[in-house]
Amino acid sequence: MHSWLINWFCYVLSSSGPALKTGKSRIFYGIHKDFPCVAVVGLGKTSAGVCGSENWDTSKENIRQAVSAGCRLLQDLEVKHVEVDGCGDAQSAAEGAALGLFQYDQLKSKKKTKVTTQLHRSADSVGWQKGVVYAEGQNLARLLMEAPANHITPTAFANTIEEKLALHAERAWIEEQQMGAFLSVSKGSEEPPVFLELHYNGSPDSKQAPLLLVGKGITFDSGGISLKPSPSMDAMRADMGGAATVCASIVTAAALKLPVNIIGLAPLCENMPSGKATKPGDVVMARNGKTIQVDNTDAEGRLVLADALCYGHSFNPRAIVNVATLTGAMDVALGSAATGVFTNSDWLWEQLHKASVVTGDRVWRMPLFQHYTRQVTDSQLADLNNIGKYSRSGGACTAAAFLREFVTAPHWAHLDIAGVMSNKDEVPYLRKGMSGRPTRTLVEFAAGLSPATKLEAH
Ligand code: BES
Ligand code: ZN
Ligand code: ZN
Repeated sequence: MHSWLINWFCYVLSSSGPALKTGKSRIFYGIHKDFPCVAVVGLGKTSAGVCGSENWDTSKENIRQAVSAGCRLLQDLEVKHVEVDGCGDAQSAAEGAALGLFQYDQLKSKKKTKVTTQLHRSADSVGWQKGVVYAEGQNLARLLMEAPANHITPTAFANTIEEKLALHAERAWIEEQQMGAFLSVSKGSEEPPVFLELHYNGSPDSKQAPLLLVGKGITFDSGGISLKPSPSMDAMRADMGGAATVCASIVTAAALKLPVNIIGLAPLCENMPSGKATKPGDVVMARNGKTIQVDNTDAEGRLVLADALCYGHSFNPRAIVNVATLTGAMDVALGSAATGVFTNSDWLWEQLHKASVVTGDRVWRMPLFQHYTRQVTDSQLADLNNIGKYSRSGGACTAAAFLREFVTAPHWAHLDIAGVMSNKDEVPYLRKGMSGRPTRTLVEFAAGLSPATKLEAH
């Protein structure tokens, strides 16, 4: 822009009302012949940077929020194409635009205006493109999570991902693998279970040990015989959020051609009550031979993950990260501020935390004390009980302690995403609905693992 134009525009802006607050936007009409409609957004202090107490980069968050607000305002005005200023960080601007404009309205007759976006006259088209790919990854997870359970069945989920990458196995293979814990969850449903396995080989060294990502894939969690109360049960269509974010992050890693090897596993099934369903008190056997007394059929996530984690060890992974909408207690503990991370590895924690500061999709470390292990290993009939003996106390921690019984790898992290599963208005650049969190953090984490050498130092 010419300097006289900037001066004139500053005058127009200052005389249009009070100074724009961070993340707020204002529309101007007819100020430029090529841009009949211009949304000006408040970015706050550009020098804000990484904030030690918030555990994120405030400047990046402000850009995401502001660009999202501006794009949405223009969308409401039925503007079909928006050129976006890079705001000094084109990746964050692209994320704000693509995340902010996403809306799941496939099943509505009246749809929102389809808006295309483009970076406005900036050199950083690489940053912009990266931001678009990161956001599209999260939007894929949001789509899978938001879609109703009668559309995204285990088979439909696997087919959707298969179109993009994968390989999947059906009941006979699951039985052959002796995944008794996974099968016990799927038994009450008419929908067949599916075990989804994705391999992305991006490392120049094909023998490089893979990063293993495991996602809980309950396409609907009614609670089973331990039936959940009806209010909000519909939200349990997103109980495959772990599988959705894991698969979406692998699709994104492939789009970015990250030089890492990644294997994704997703045990997919419904948790339903029926005459064939698992009953409270039943004892089942996991793939590693451990027996589990299922005292509450609603604590099903840890059962499907137990078998997937056992199977995952056979790939000799460099690190294992499992992601799951595992416990309501996680939501009680942290709400939607951050994903809870339970890990046996300080190194893995640091990598995940570092990635989350960049993406703004935060993580917070939670304990893996023996204190909790004792509460799940004290079972009347079996080696383990699927619920802690003091029922609700420390529910997120006892669930993590249960999973740990199926892990022998030195670098393992369990991400409980129950609290961040959906968004009301807490994250300003995501509309209300299923959040797709923490897909971008997983992608950033995987990107940080290359070059491969860093890990072997530990
Ligand atoms: N899928 C739920 C956890 C959940 C709750 C996720 C709310 C997202 C939002 C999980 O399978 C479950 O029901 N867990 C039980 C465990 C309990 C029976 C020990 C829970 O949290 O109540
Ligand atoms: Zn459940
Ligand atoms: Zn569940």
